[in-house]
Amino acid sequence: MPTSCTSHVLVTGGSGFIGSHTVLELINQGHKVVVVDNLSNSCEEPLRRIEKLAGLNEESLPFHNVDLANIDDLRAVFKQYNFSSVIHFAALKAVGESVRVPLAYYRNNITGTLNLMDLMIEFGVKDIVFSSSATVYKSDPDGRPFREDSELGCTSPYGRTKLYMESIIRDVVGAESGWNAIMLRYFNPTGAHESGTMGEDPCQIPNNLMPYVSQVAIGKLDNVHVFGNDYNTRDGTGVRDYIHVMDLAEAHVIALERLTGNHGYEVFNLGSGAGQSVLEMIDAMSIACGHKIPYVVDPRRSGDIDTIVCDPKKANEVLGFKVSRDLTKMCTDLWRWQVANPEGYNQ
Ligand SMILES: NC(=O)c1ccc[n+]([C@@H]2O[C@H](COP(=O)([O-])OP(=O)(O)OC[C@H]3O[C@@H](n4cnc5c(N)ncnc54)[C@H](O)[C@@H]3O)[C@@H](O)[C@H]2O)c1
Repeated sequence: MPTSCTSHVLVTGGSGFIGSHTVLELINQGHKVVVVDNLSNSCEEPLRRIEKLAGLNEESLPFHNVDLANIDDLRAVFKQYNFSSVIHFAALKAVGESVRVPLAYYRNNITGTLNLMDLMIEFGVKDIVFSSSATVYKSDPDGRPFREDSELGCTSPYGRTKLYMESIIRDVVGAESGWNAIMLRYFNPTGAHESGTMGEDPCQIPNNLMPYVSQVAIGKLDNVHVFGNDYNTRDGTGVRDYIHVMDLAEAHVIALERLTGNHGYEVFNLGSGAGQSVLEMIDAMSIACGHKIPYVVDPRRSGDIDTIVCDPKKANEVLGFKVSRDLTKMCTDLWRWQVANPEGYNQ
């Protein structure tokens, strides 16, 4: 029997970028949350900022520094609370790193998910929202928007771990009765909380475009590297589908609430459906920060393609979810966070 009778949502990876913004939104919508994170790519400070923004007492947000790879430690958390559902963010997420150290990615992402699913079965927790990714789709050289039923196929170990984790969850839903699972395939999350107190804090040189652009804008890095300007796009640079992290956070709350409707296993894209090129993103960020952001054009990276955008129709129609924050909002919020926290959370 759990020590606590109150029903909680378990959020794995809840001190990371997307997890922390979602935890705040969950609390604001009246959910009780428990965060599990091993802090391998984050720190506890976002939890303190969540408490302030949500008007909670300091250190009152339940947090367990636990590695999902350690099933006994994770079981101790399951014993303590009465979990109604899980949102599973915890994973290693750098595509390039996953090519260099694939086993670390398989071990961390797959083992963590297996342990989590084992414990959900053991404790009768049957509702899960999973952080998936656009990387599960097979590249389309024609740049057509990806639908949830588009062909799957990954080019990196990271993408394959996402595909395998989706498959593991789908198979459990098929084998056990009463389970509900929603896979959310994010496109390119960016932006920050509009307070400027929460945002993305890459521990190393950023892998993703927008945190990199923002660090160039503030002078921590010299130039943005634009990989290829001869793609078949409006201005020759790669087009991607950006989504504000708070839109993403809101979508998680909607997905979590849908789980109670017993829909079994479902998959949704989360993106705007509109693509922006690398140069358009640099221009938008230049406007937000009020000065030109320097960039250099480098050769294409192998594996990159012209355009990756989603078809957001299913999330619109079934979840009733539509992005409400535009490119300007993504950049102004990102810049506000960058200026207020030049060293990220480690001030
Ligand atoms: N940011 C993106 O561009 C993007 C795009 C698509 C999908 N995703 C997925 O969304 C999820 C969250 O991404 P994010 O950008 O917030 O990343 P993040 O690195 O900021 O957050 C992930 C969190 O998980 C924790 N973690 C990792 N392995 C763990 C383990 N074994 N046990 C406990 N905690 C562990 C890390 O410490 C970190 O706090 C990830 O699953 C990622 O793959 C991210």
